[in-house]
Parts: sequence; structure tokens; C-alpha cells
Amino acid sequence: MSATEHAKIGSFRSVGQLRDRLVDLGIELPCDSEVLPAPDSPMAQPINIFGRQARNRFAIHPMEGWDADASGSPTKRVFRRWMRFGQSGAALIWGGEAAAVRPDGRANPNQLVLSEANETEIKSLRTALVDAHDAEFGSSGGLVVGLQLTHSGRYSRPQGAPAPAALYRHPLLDDRVGITSDAAIMSDDDVRLLIRDYIRAARAAQRCGFDFVDIKHCHGYLGHEFLSAYTRPGDYGGSLQNRTRFLREVVTGIRADAPGLGIGVRLSAFDLVPYVPENEQSAPGKLGEGVPQNYCDAMPYRFAFGCDQEMPVQMDLSETVELLRTMLQIGVEAVNLTAGSPYYNPHIQRPALYPPSDGYSPPEDPLVGVARQMHAVRFLKQYVPEMPMVGTAYSYLQQFVGHVAQAAVREGWVDIVGLGRMALSYPTLPTDILAGRALHVKRVCRTFSDCTTAPRNGLPSGCYPLDEEYKSSSEAKLLAAAKRATKAGGAL
Ligand SMILES: Cc1cc2nc3c(=O)[nH]c(=O)nc-3n(C[C@H](O)[C@H](O)[C@H](O)COP(=O)(O)O)c2cc1C
Ligand code: SF4
Repeated sequence: MSATEHAKIGSFRSVGQLRDRLVDLGIELPCDSEVLPAPDSPMAQPINIFGRQARNRFAIHPMEGWDADASGSPTKRVFRRWMRFGQSGAALIWGGEAAAVRPDGRANPNQLVLSEANETEIKSLRTALVDAHDAEFGSSGGLVVGLQLTHSGRYSRPQGAPAPAALYRHPLLDDRVGITSDAAIMSDDDVRLLIRDYIRAARAAQRCGFDFVDIKHCHGYLGHEFLSAYTRPGDYGGSLQNRTRFLREVVTGIRADAPGLGIGVRLSAFDLVPYVPENEQSAPGKLGEGVPQNYCDAMPYRFAFGCDQEMPVQMDLSETVELLRTMLQIGVEAVNLTAGSPYYNPHIQRPALYPPSDGYSPPEDPLVGVARQMHAVRFLKQYVPEMPMVGTAYSYLQQFVGHVAQAAVREGWVDIVGLGRMALSYPTLPTDILAGRALHVKRVCRTFSDCTTAPRNGLPSGCYPLDEEYKSSSEAKLLAAAKRATKAGGAL
């Protein structure tokens, strides 16, 4: 089924139509008839997190823009994005965006780097966000701000070309990043040096004034890859104890060297095998529907963390429950749960009606993807209720985000609702919801995926269709040309 064959939520005139669609799809999701304003809304309830009190239940997910300068310092565009996050009204800024703990761990040459040289600039970035929040709301009380720390692992491209640093050979993923020998595999000594970099970066984040750091374990990047290092020998692979050693050593180091700094983890709670566009349906300008890459020849193999070993197109959350319990024991104070990876199964990670240029047509109604993530969080919340959990994949709900978010929080499916793409197109949606105002329908993210297609074509990310800053930029013309070239049969 192609994108156009899935119901367009944007055309739904009432929440009843959304409910009907959920019934048609056989999906159970909490969904209220009316969006409540503060103080009655469950979204307006404060929550204790990272030793502070967040004023409400909205979070902004980390959203990078591929727009730092060559040294990894923030540019004007980065400042603008962070200030808009500050003005959003969301009380929890989960990480801002991915900041590499050292230059060779960047996923692109324009990713932020938290180095000694950039510390002052990154401190100013946090201050700009907090000041923007203060100017909008008269106080920054109840605002909690973290920084996401990352190493891109097998997706490292510090100079643009792939420069993978992986933890094990993967039968399906190696080809995608050009890994042909064990030379790309980090040794245990390399890992130990990297742990020092995380601890150093966390101390720097504390000096910058961040309330917490997120030790990123999602989306196929290095932290996440540790969790699936089933075949790796040595201290950091094999048993779950070994696969979590990296996290435990980073957390212990941060506790010792940066006491008082909050520690969170953004986690891909489950993952599946990589997907590819169905060959027979693909034609110039038309991406085939996503199908699982042929994994049978590699069986038996554990392809991913949180993935059913026998049926790797299904999740298995048993190790995830164990991991969350371990996290509680070692002092991880909250998790932000996401899924999959934007590189090899984007429909799992960020449900969208329109695929990014390196993706595939949605193999399912994107509402199924939203529900998959929401149900996973609900399940994990039941098993590990003490862990505060932020949920992901709500942007696809579009004008009905408020209806679903408040019901999900009230019914205990999740503690905090995070917004990713919506925060690019319509950052002040949380404020409008809490104030009981009608939404600006023209600013609602319709999941056109230009914010992903742009960086896949070497351009900065941003909401090109709906945000004037990008719509009227010179890069918009380049993006349009890149999309035309794709339609004409050029490289995807
Ligand atoms: C342009 C773009 C940049 C992103 N950058 C990051 C990032 O730096 N760190 C991260 O953990 N996730 C990142 N994500 C994933 C989002 O945080 C979020 O998980 C995803 O968009 C799904 O949430 P949504 O449905 O609200 O958009 C990015 C997503 C997009 C579209
Ligand atoms: S480009 Fe804008 S509308 Fe499209 S997915 Fe990104 S934020 Fe949403």
C-alpha cells in the first residue's frame, strides 16, 4: 500500500474519525473527546524528575539540525532551534540534540561536539534556551534541561564519508556502512578510552548548567549497539551484564566526577531487522513499500536488542525490562523510550505518511507505528513503574496529539509525552494546548519528512514546508532540486 492509500489524518474533521480509523485498524489507543486546558489537563500536572520538578508533562525530544559549524559549535540556526524549544512551554527539554563526546564520533560534519573548545558556546546555547523560556513565561522555574551525549558508532561520518566504529560484525548492517573487515571494530581498550570521554563530557555539561545528561542508547548509534553485542567477545559483549558494562561504567564515572548531575537514557526499547524498498514496486520517483531485508540466510542470529530472535520482525521486551531494572539499580533516573533506527527501519522509529528519500513507502498505516511504540511503553511502565518514562512517536497524531497524550498520561501508559518533528514545525503546540487555544492547523507537522530528506542530501535539517526560516531559504531550492532529481530517477 502506498502513502496515498493510508488515511490522511490531516483531513479528519473530528476526533471521532480518528477513533473510527483506530477501530478499522484494530488498534487500541487512549483518546479523549476533548482536550483539557491547564490546570485540569493531566498534561498540566507537575512531575519530579532528575531531582527537580518539571512543571508539566510535555517534553521536547532531541532534534539535531546538521547545522553546527566545522568545529562542532552551535550556529545561529542551532540557537534559533533551541530558543524555540525554550519557548515551547514543554517543561522537559530532553537533550536538545545529539552532541558528540569527541569529534570522530560525529554522525555528520555538522553535528555539535562537546569539547573543551566549544564548552562556552554550548553553555550559551543552554542559557539562550532558558532565557527564551523565561521571557515567554516570566520564570524558568519548573523547566528541566538536559544534553544528549552521543558517539555515532557505525554511523560515524565526521568528515562526511562513512568512518564506522562498530562493536561487532553484523550480517545485514555492515554492507550499508561499508564495513568489510574487523578493522572497523573497536577494541575493549578503545571502549575504555571512550568511557573517559563520556565522563569528561558529562562534567562539561554540568559546568554548562545542564540539569542532566542523556547517555544515548538508541537509533543504532554506539550506546545502542552495545545492547545487541551478543556475538562480541570480551568485557563488553555476550551476556546482558557485559552488554550493559559500558552504560554502568559511564554512569559510575559520572556519579563520581559530576555528583548532582542527573543521568537519563534515551533508549530504543525495541528494534527489528532492517527494511528495504520492495524492488518490484520501486520505479524512478517511487519508492517501493518497505519489506524486511532478507534475513533468513543469516539465521539463527540475534539481529537487534528488543527483537524476537525467532521472528525478528517482532519485538521482544523481556531484556528491555531487565535493562530498565538494571538502570534503576545503577542510578539512571529516567528514560526516554524510542524504537528502531532512522537508518534501517524508519517506519518503526518515526511513523510518517511520506518517506524520507532514503527510505521506503510505509508498509503499514503509520498509526500502527505510533501504537507499537505507545503499547511498548505501556507494557514497560507496568513492569518497571518506578522508572519515569517519556514516550515517543506522537507527532504523527497531528491535530489529535492533545487528545491522545492527555488520555495516555491519565491512564498511566506513560509519564511524559515527548514531541520531535512537531517541535520543528509548531514548537508552541504545548503552550496552545495547555492554554486551551485552538491549534494553528497550518503549523501542524504532516510528516512530509523533508526534515530527514534534507540532511540525506547534505543540507541542514528543518521544517522546509512549514517553517518560514527554511521555506524561504536558499537551501529550500536545493532541496526541491534534489527531490526533482530523485523523481527523475536519480540516486535516492
Ligand atoms: C530532523 C530530526 C532530527 C533528529 N535528531 C535526533 C537527535 O539528535 N537525537 C535523538 O535521540 N533523536 C533524534 N531524532 C528523533 C526524534 O527525537 C524522535 O524520536 C522522532 O522524530 C519521533 O518522534 P516524533 O514522532 O514526535 O517526531 C530526530 C528526528 C528528526 C526528524
Ligand atoms: S519537514 Fe516539517 S512537516 Fe515534514 S516531517 Fe519534518 S517537521 Fe514535519
